[in-house]
Amino acid sequence: MKILVTGGLGFIGSNFIQHTFEEHQDFRITNIDACLPGSNPNNLSDLKNKNYEYVKGNITNKKLIEKLVLKSDAVINFAAESHVDRSISDPRPFIDSNIIGAYTILEAIRKHKKRLIQISTDEVFGSLKSNSADEGFPFNPSSPYAASKASAEALAKSYVTTYDCDVIITRCTNNYGPRQSPEKLIPKTILYAEKNKKIPVYGTGKNIRDWIFVLDHCDAILRVLLKGKKGESYNIAGQNEIDNLTIIKKILDIMKKPKELIQFTKDRPGHDFRYSLNSRKIYRELGWKPAHDFESGLEHTIEWYTKNKAWRKNVSSSDMTKTSWKTR
Ligand SMILES: NC(=O)c1ccc[n+]([C@@H]2O[C@H](COP(=O)([O-])OP(=O)(O)OC[C@H]3O[C@@H](n4cnc5c(N)ncnc54)[C@H](O)[C@@H]3O)[C@@H](O)[C@H]2O)c1
Repeated sequence: MKILVTGGLGFIGSNFIQHTFEEHQDFRITNIDACLPGSNPNNLSDLKNKNYEYVKGNITNKKLIEKLVLKSDAVINFAAESHVDRSISDPRPFIDSNIIGAYTILEAIRKHKKRLIQISTDEVFGSLKSNSADEGFPFNPSSPYAASKASAEALAKSYVTTYDCDVIITRCTNNYGPRQSPEKLIPKTILYAEKNKKIPVYGTGKNIRDWIFVLDHCDAILRVLLKGKKGESYNIAGQNEIDNLTIIKKILDIMKKPKELIQFTKDRPGHDFRYSLNSRKIYRELGWKPAHDFESGLEHTIEWYTKNKAWRKNVSSSDMTKTSWKTR
């Protein structure tokens, strides 16, 4: 199978490429990535598979996307501006990559009749009090990031209805694991704790997210690619709903660091209280379930960041120091 992965130098895309080659050494993967925020060339520097090709380029480049889609069997669109804080300080790149980029890919798969897996997020459903969103739940995005992902989903769905395109949407909860940009909560906490730097926590730190180990997410996407039904969407949850403060405390405990490193900061605007997905459909229809529990996944993640010092060479110092939506 020949797969076009977009955004494969980022966190989930790079883990997906590694995971897919472990499962299917004979697959051919082309990765198009524009080296934007979230990317790190070191994410795939140890990849030796001769069936891997990297193309530096932007998914809004119609000509390039058409050429790459034509020689692939399927596209997995990970490429996106993914940081909510950045979307608050400047939404424009999110419109370009997450909406125009998705549109450009949809046009190419329509023309060449290829399968597209559009990677989306639980954030499209907005904040939930106690219930969990299933695949039919109404959208209620809060941030420009979430709105751009919901827009891409709406476009993708329209290409199924109007043009009978082979598109599947997957929505996942918060991922954690190796190769994530230290702008995000878990790697930032680990790297700050290691340096005994104050760890910023928005508001009360009581905001709840569901956390999934990144390789469980990658496994679910692979299953959707190979067995998913055209036109469907699948929710992918880790079933680990935890508040931010508890996660930070767990990391400090494992790293044997003092809780005094925690520093509460002003909350960001529109900070959703809780996201939650019901993922019974993918359990039932594709036989997928997460394989990693949160405790062991977190220990593995901490070990990875503390051991892989070479990986950090491409992490910009501004990514390490920016703490909130206000600082951009
Ligand atoms: N990280 C999570 O917890 C999470 C949860 C649910 C869904 N998602 C979705 O999964 C996908 C991947 O997320 P991630 O955390 O790996 O993000 P990331 O920021 O780590 O990586 C995104 C990658 O996309 C590339 N990119 C962005 N815009 C591009 C463009 N216009 N052209 C080419 N490349 C471009 C970047 O260079 C980067 O390498 C995103 O679509 C995101 O919305 C992420």
